[in-house]
Amino acid sequence: MKYPMVAPSVLAADFANLQRDVEMLNGSDADWIHIDIMDGVFVPNISFGIPVCEAINRHATKPLDVHLMIVQPERYVEAFKKAGAACISVHYEACPHLHRNLQQLHDLEVMAGVAINPHTPIEGLRDVINDVDLVCLMSVNPGFGGQKFIERTYEKVRALRKMIVEEGASTKIEIDGGVNANNAKALLDAGADVLVAGSFVFKSENPTQTITDLKGIGV
Ligand code: DX5
Ligand code: ZN
Repeated sequence: MKYPMVAPSVLAADFANLQRDVEMLNGSDADWIHIDIMDGVFVPNISFGIPVCEAINRHATKPLDVHLMIVQPERYVEAFKKAGAACISVHYEACPHLHRNLQQLHDLEVMAGVAINPHTPIEGLRDVINDVDLVCLMSVNPGFGGQKFIERTYEKVRALRKMIVEEGASTKIEIDGGVNANNAKALLDAGADVLVAGSFVFKSENPTQTITDLKGIGV
């Protein structure tokens, strides 16, 4: 049996009660805490920045998985590492020199992630896949929580898993956007390793139980 890693996204948490919500995650079966950084340029929305990441890190006992939806991420990755990031994903579409971004992440000794938009073919990752620890495959258009899962994602997960095997890489596949109990099993089956879930966790009646239920979905 294979079970997913689960990374709840605090984008859907109550920002006025962040400490409470982070403590809930500490006491849950969550593996990582997913942190969505939006700059209002790469994506149409602004979320929060480095001080909030630092504040989360002061209370979190789980690794912080930072998803940078920002232009020129090379200007900020060091600050996010200092703010507690264990994994940092930069966007493929925001990085004309992606190989250099990956080297920078390796030099900082964080997990090196690449996030990729729904319209972007995964084939562009092949030549760097051995340098990528995590691909964050977007299953919605980045910028907002609570959007509808894009069905085409399953095919992309399968193709990406095939590429990882062909290239002898050990890259993890993370799915981000619209993940819930209805699609989690099929995503895992297609080759996903990590499931990000924002609204599905935080808007549920019992977030801790929802995380446990997601963790328990095995294939
Ligand atoms: C979207 C973010 C996601 C988001 C997921 O831009 O990258 O991480 O928080 O939220 P849900 O699970 O509500 O789609
Ligand atoms: Zn995200």
